[in-house]
Amino acid sequence: MEPLFSRPLHTRVVGSRILVFESVDSTSSRAFNSGRDGTVVVAEHQTEGRGRHGRAWHSPPGLGLWFSVAFTGGVDGLEFAAPLAVRDGLRPFCALTLKWPNDLLAESRKICGILVERRAGTTVVGIGINVRHRPEDFPPELRATAASILMATGRAPERGDVLERVLTTLDDRVCALRAGLGEVVRREWAAACDVEGRRVRYRGLDGFVTAIDGLGGLVLDTPAGVRRVLFGERLEWMEDKSCCS
Ligand code: BTN
Repeated sequence: MEPLFSRPLHTRVVGSRILVFESVDSTSSRAFNSGRDGTVVVAEHQTEGRGRHGRAWHSPPGLGLWFSVAFTGGVDGLEFAAPLAVRDGLRPFCALTLKWPNDLLAESRKICGILVERRAGTTVVGIGINVRHRPEDFPPELRATAASILMATGRAPERGDVLERVLTTLDDRVCALRAGLGEVVRREWAAACDVEGRRVRYRGLDGFVTAIDGLGGLVLDTPAGVRRVLFGERLEWMEDKSCCS
């Protein structure tokens, strides 16, 4: 398998220490124990990769990038910064759109998932990027909704090149957050989510998204009145923007 790191990273925080494993339970679990601000944990394979809402994350060897970065020095707004960083880092390889709250899609199929977790003063952002999967590499239940860079573009980039780019753009965004630009980043993320006017179903109510609030939640207009959806809470997306004329 090709090396995941062949050149030094030019970053300030992300990659202060880099731990590469053949197989781990979850890179995010390892990152929580890593101790140093900016530590990157990467694995070829995860046996217990986890996603949002307690779901498992399919992490087979050699096909994707499964990595986590630990921040012990405090950083607010990673939920917003990380998807922008991944989108920007992947731009030379694959054009992606952001789906609220932090999935990255190509042609409506999920290529990347992001999980931000906090425990006792440490924040870990875990990132899974499907790079060279073919449709048959996904389990049947994911085949209709998941894709890889290879499937979206016909090309499989070197995973090390992708990782270097994403860690560099993540470093830029983390430095921006720490420089007090959190609200600028949140607004950029909210605009990129492009949710206003989308039809959704939430807790049995049909509604339209009217805004994203300051915490990244959705404000809905429903027949029962205004409803608020917390950042990352589950809801069902109906067809796009059909309400707006
Ligand atoms: C999601 O969309 O549900 C989030 C998926 C996050 C998956 C990544 S893979 C690397 C890191 N380690 C984990 O166990 N999960 C994250």
